[in-house]
Amino acid sequence: MRRIFVIAAAALIFAGCGSPKTEAEKFADKLLEKMTLREKLGQMSQFRPRSGVVTGPEGFSYNLEDMIKAGEVGSILSLREMEYFEIYQRMAVDSSRLGIPILFAHDIIHGCKVIFPINLGSSCTWDVEATRQSARVAAVEASAMGLAWTFSPMCDISADPRWGRVSEGSGEDPYLAAKLSAAMVEGYQGDDLSDSTTILACVKHFAAYGAPEAGREYNTVDMSERMFRDRYLPVYQAALEAGAATVMSSFNDYDGIPASGNRWLLKTVLRDELGFDGFVVSDYDAVHEMVNHGVAADGADAARLALEAYLDMEMTSGDYINHGEQLVRDGIISEKHIDELCRNILVAKYELGLFEDPFRYGGAERFARETYKPESIALARQIARESMVLLKNEDSVLPLKEGRKVAMIGPFLSDARAMNGTWDGFSEAKRIVTIEQGMKARFPEDAMTFTRGCDAYNHIEGGVEAAVRAARAADVAVLTLGLPGNHSGETTSMTSVELPQAQKELLAAVKATGKPVVVLLVTGRPMALESVDGLMDALLVVWHPGTAGGDAVADLLSGDFSPSGHLTMSFPRCDGQIPIRYNHKSTGRPLNKELDYTQSHKAKKNYLSSYLFTPNTPLYPFGYGLSYTEFAFDGLEVLDPEVGTGEDVRVKVRVSNVGNIKGTTVAQLYIRDMVASTTRPVRELKGFERVSLEPGASAEVVFTITADDMAFCREDMTFAQEPGEFGVWVGESCEADLEGHFIVRE
Ligand code: GLC
Repeated sequence: MRRIFVIAAAALIFAGCGSPKTEAEKFADKLLEKMTLREKLGQMSQFRPRSGVVTGPEGFSYNLEDMIKAGEVGSILSLREMEYFEIYQRMAVDSSRLGIPILFAHDIIHGCKVIFPINLGSSCTWDVEATRQSARVAAVEASAMGLAWTFSPMCDISADPRWGRVSEGSGEDPYLAAKLSAAMVEGYQGDDLSDSTTILACVKHFAAYGAPEAGREYNTVDMSERMFRDRYLPVYQAALEAGAATVMSSFNDYDGIPASGNRWLLKTVLRDELGFDGFVVSDYDAVHEMVNHGVAADGADAARLALEAYLDMEMTSGDYINHGEQLVRDGIISEKHIDELCRNILVAKYELGLFEDPFRYGGAERFARETYKPESIALARQIARESMVLLKNEDSVLPLKEGRKVAMIGPFLSDARAMNGTWDGFSEAKRIVTIEQGMKARFPEDAMTFTRGCDAYNHIEGGVEAAVRAARAADVAVLTLGLPGNHSGETTSMTSVELPQAQKELLAAVKATGKPVVVLLVTGRPMALESVDGLMDALLVVWHPGTAGGDAVADLLSGDFSPSGHLTMSFPRCDGQIPIRYNHKSTGRPLNKELDYTQSHKAKKNYLSSYLFTPNTPLYPFGYGLSYTEFAFDGLEVLDPEVGTGEDVRVKVRVSNVGNIKGTTVAQLYIRDMVASTTRPVRELKGFERVSLEPGASAEVVFTITADDMAFCREDMTFAQEPGEFGVWVGESCEADLEGHFIVRE
């Protein structure tokens, strides 16, 4: 009998009567039966408190406390006063009719109290495990504050440093960004959402927000579906496959339809193709902004579009709560559809354990215990160190030699904000170690002088003269140049990513003293440095390195540690090269690297894909990074030179530390599909590994290239591998020249 029952049950499931309901789904369905339509729309609405971070126009004014008591606030974002987490939660639980708990959220994207380097910086560690750990620390601190949801990881690929939000992502390459984004999801969510130190992750910004036309914030995104599937979608997908519980729709239109009302993105791709079963929140005010986009006549129309696109929760613009009931009364949207969306939110709250104990997150004692732990700060210092990328070190001017006089110069020496960069969580300036503080803690104070020289964008009276005097009195000058902390992140697009003029003049004046010049580049984006490259003897990109940034700088300048960061975004020579990426296509007239572009232009036009006066190559390429020691790669061996489709290809290489101090490099493997049904990138990263070696030591690294690694959106739009010949390269940047080949048979 039992056997028949089992078969029948299986048949029912197979017949699409749905998989058996989880406890969370059963709970949600029961609760939905008790809820009014307005209460359902309330759960689908997220608002900010008066003190919350404003990241857009404020179209809808509301009394938050009244709405909480009316059960019309499903979630609150950007709450900064800790005591209000409990006040608002108690208000929701005790004063609203059904007592449904509030879901508190914030942008904890690179730390909560202990701030890690900005994500672009952290990505330059190529350290997946450290990335996971940093997200774990952030989740423990955030949940101790009372937060149960973070708007992270940002999974937007970008090759355009004019766009300030490159600081929040993991660079230009989908393979690396996918690994790091998945690790962040795992760090935030752990393996049990009912654990009160885990928080919901949020895959954002769906989708393709990192490709705005002209690098201008919020601008139109228009690309082929093939490009979207090959280059952008894989990162979102990897984060979803890691179990991300939520997704955020992006501001931009994609293929002519704003993401928040884009059924193809939010239903066809996200839910039907990728099987996402969590909930989608809009970005800030993005539902109502479909009126500005010109696809919605008014708020009601915007609400309709978003609801029809299966957008579950609206952030701040209030069109769901203001127009949802009328849309149902008019028969435009069914209450059944509202139930389907609202259910996703209730299920998430249940899985977090909020119905069981609405006060399980937060608490002053837990907060004091869980924040600023020494091991968290140590991790932030380690990641900051590993994130910094040494791009130049003429005559080994770094590390600074003991006993030498050092003139520390520049606008970011004691700038705490510059250490944090954008979205600096709930950090406190007094806990941040500035570059000046870090250097003073490590070097004898009488060995250093500190001179501002100029402001970020402007001269200061006598500043250059003072800096020149300081340099003349020293053995070496160390300049902190770059961009302010608040000029990275949202709404900070720039038409030029060159150094500000005042800084260029300061650098030139100090260089003219003849002293060696070290530049510490404080920035949230790649910068175009060709015009000043000759003025720098050493260049260390420190990014916005976070709470322990100053100590991490001193760790490297002192030689206590050797730099090990490798670029995850190309550094252009000049603005005109942007967007620039390593995984570009060949074109029909590729500029082969042997050809000296200047020679060809002097002699005659070369009729190749090139510029008249500028090479195609970036100043510093993807994957590049120096160390205080040197590494050699040899012995490349393709262990599987010929395989069938679906089979793995293993590639072995030997890495040696041929210098005289220990260090770490990142061994990188790139492939090229030589002939395919569509044009393929000239190189694609498909493997990487951090390798730490004592001087004189060697290690073997074996990479495994899977069929999935070779898959792409083929001519017929199916995503799969194709047989044929592949090139493979291994080294410590995308310009690796240690080469091999393999063949995939039919
Ligand atoms: C902002 C950002 C988004 C953030 C949200 C909430 O406008 O685009 O990344 O999570 O609003 O702060």
